[in-house]
Amino acid sequence: EKEPTRVLVTGAAGQIGYALVPMIARGLMLGPEQPVILHLLDIEPAAEALNGVKMELIDAAFPLLKDVIATTDVVEACEGVNIAIMLGGFPRKEGMERKEVMSKNISIYKAQATALELNAADNCKVLVVANPANTNALILKEFAPSIPENNITCLTMLDHNRAIAQIADKLNVHVSDVKNVIIWGNHSSTLYPDVNHATVTSTDGKKLVRELVANDHWVNKELVSRVQQRGAAIIKARKLSSALSAASAACDHVCTWVLGTKKGTWVSMGVYSDGSYGIQPGLIYSFPVTCKNGEWSIVQGLKIDEFSREKMDATEKELIEEKQVAYSCLNSSA
Ligand code: NAI
Repeated sequence: EKEPTRVLVTGAAGQIGYALVPMIARGLMLGPEQPVILHLLDIEPAAEALNGVKMELIDAAFPLLKDVIATTDVVEACEGVNIAIMLGGFPRKEGMERKEVMSKNISIYKAQATALELNAADNCKVLVVANPANTNALILKEFAPSIPENNITCLTMLDHNRAIAQIADKLNVHVSDVKNVIIWGNHSSTLYPDVNHATVTSTDGKKLVRELVANDHWVNKELVSRVQQRGAAIIKARKLSSALSAASAACDHVCTWVLGTKKGTWVSMGVYSDGSYGIQPGLIYSFPVTCKNGEWSIVQGLKIDEFSREKMDATEKELIEEKQVAYSCLNSSA
């Protein structure tokens, strides 16, 4: 039998954790042949709830789940992990300044970066979901220098899937017929869903979404704001933020990264910028990527029109500012 893969989930007693861990244990993330050992981390006030999650995982009697480690000790949690999914973080509370939230998350991600660096398995792959996702990932990268920078990513797959769902709805096709949307930039309200390269496959063959929706207003305004505002719409409806769709997107992200993209298709991931498309090197920015043999690479050579350029630059600017705020927090706490 295959050696189990150790998957760390931080913030595992939270909402996304509750939806995500059964998906992993059922083989939806790493495939139906791959046994897993779950490492669940949360903080002391959530220790009892975390233990409850462990009890339910045991009760579900998942054939692929070989063991569950539930702990509040970050070192124990990181021991030997092959994949780390970071859901844990400090949520923004009413009346809190952006900088204050950033500063709390920076100290969390700094400590967890060190624990991963010292205790994770070689070549551990990291997915940061907790907000501010791109900047948390950047901090993690800075403080875990021995983890290859290409192994540290953040989640924009939820936005990617949301864009696909909006297009499918608009064109009255199934989501699986819509391919190659792009989410550029920050997982925040400045993210830019770009459909200029997206296609729809139907009985009449493959067509550009752009040809099927000849309406610039829908593409440039309505779709963009629907994807940007979807998170807020879910909170309004559920009185809680997206959890099952976020968990499913986290599964898609890791699954695609490990098992690869299908020929001719790409997905969106927040990854380390190498300067592609003129984006500042070293930022964690969402790009279109293809994946093969456990490695992602940024899709090159896509034509960028003036409208897209502006949007891509605006979200880059926000990430540069976040990076500056992050560094000023680091300096003031040092
Ligand atoms: P939640 O509040 O239900 O759960 C977060 C959990 O993290 C809690 O159990 C909390 O005790 C734990 N936690 C806090 N500090 C920790 C630490 N230092 N170490 C380990 N665990 C810690 O939140 P939810 O809904 O599960 O969301 C998780 C994160 O994901 C949030 O930051 C949210 O903003 C973000 N998110 C990101 C999305 C994306 O597309 N990138 C989509 C949806 C949510």
